[in-house]
Amino acid sequence: MIGDRTIFFDIIDSTNKYLKDNWIDLPSETVVWARKQINGIGRKGNLWVSEKGGLWFSVLFKPSKRTKNPGYYIKMYSLTLYDLFKKYKLKTTIKWPNDLLINNKKICGIMAENIYKNSFPVAVIVGVGINVNNDVEKYNFDYKATSLKNEINKEIKLTKLLNEINHIAYNKYYLKYMKEHAVSILTKKWIKRLNLKKGDLVNIYNKEENYYNVKILDLTENFIQVIDQNENIMKIYNGNIEKINL
Ligand code: BTN
Repeated sequence: MIGDRTIFFDIIDSTNKYLKDNWIDLPSETVVWARKQINGIGRKGNLWVSEKGGLWFSVLFKPSKRTKNPGYYIKMYSLTLYDLFKKYKLKTTIKWPNDLLINNKKICGIMAENIYKNSFPVAVIVGVGINVNNDVEKYNFDYKATSLKNEINKEIKLTKLLNEINHIAYNKYYLKYMKEHAVSILTKKWIKRLNLKKGDLVNIYNKEENYYNVKILDLTENFIQVIDQNENIMKIYNGNIEKINL
């Protein structure tokens, strides 16, 4: 079960880095968590501010019969956290492609990557950072952030939260949907929870090109298909999407 082996640090550079350096000697489903990270890593190499009070952890998976595709691990943890926050009566939005928002503010970041041996993926490392009791107001992020404490007006014990997450991820998703024949069900569940749906009119902002006033034709595992006003059909793999409210 996830977390049967748990390694705790008071301070570490990054729990993801710890697993990258030590994955060979550790069993699958090992969890590494730290009270504070001094060099937390976010997606696209961004620094992830990880002060005391937040829940910063990474999980190692070395599956033999299950998928090693990192995209599914991000989906699995997005759904897990969606369910977890629901227990606290909070409505989470999964903002495409993979941000978790509460009241339009980011509460959590999830990333996943493979470890390769002779060019073959042999393990997956998932990193999860959740603003729980930490103070997010004092930082100038380039997005709006919130914490669980802000949203429910009380502090939550980090050990309790981590146990709940391990339990939901393992029993509700990992055992059931991470085998190759079942991952499409996981994707469907994730699409159902996304902030976008077929037929939505959106503006898309990404590094390469921006797309204005396009309509979503389809949502898939790793891209969305859109059509513009000149009937050009395009696949979009990432970017910031804003819904156009008519
Ligand atoms: C994101 O950029 O949205 C993903 C952030 C993931 C941060 C977590 S915190 C625990 C783990 N250790 C790291 O260094 N990063 C991840």
